Amino acid sequence: TEETLVLVKPDGVARGLTGAILARIEAKGYALVDIRLVEPDRETLAQHYAEHEGKPFYEPLLEFMLSGPSVAIRLAGNRVIEGFRSLAGTTDPTTAAPGTIRGDFGRDWGLKVQQNLVHGSDSVESAERELAIWFA
Ligand code: GTP
Ligand code: MG
Repeated sequence: TEETLVLVKPDGVARGLTGAILARIEAKGYALVDIRLVEPDRETLAQHYAEHEGKPFYEPLLEFMLSGPSVAIRLAGNRVIEGFRSLAGTTDPTTAAPGTIRGDFGRDWGLKVQQNLVHGSDSVESAERELAIWFA
């Protein structure tokens, strides 16, 4: 079995979609190992998004992630890293496939592609690194 970090980002929490997102995760059969409401500081987010530092969307992304609480989830299951990213859909909610979290609940927020409801680790290494940040 494998573990991944899932975040319900500030837009998902603010829109009251945490329960709907958790329902999909649970229906798929993944196990909630730990879950908490978090208000990360800038330093935590800079660590989490280190790979994106210097990109044009980096500052808006951090500002967005500082705009309200997120829900951090330690999720376990067989191939859960790949499986959750499949549940989430592609990055841009406008074109994410219907049936995915981003495809079904995402809106076109203009330039704010960062408002895509959820985060999921993209590899075993990322998952270990990110779980250590959010569940220190
Ligand atoms: P995560 O699960 O959140 O990591 O999404 P991802 O793996 O699909 O995307 P990626 O790691 O490439 O980017 C991290 C986050 O930065 C995305 O989820 C978006 O919130 C934001 N982001 C990525 N690309 C863009 C972009 O081109 N423009 C804007 N505004 N935000 C972006
Ligand atoms: Mg990513």
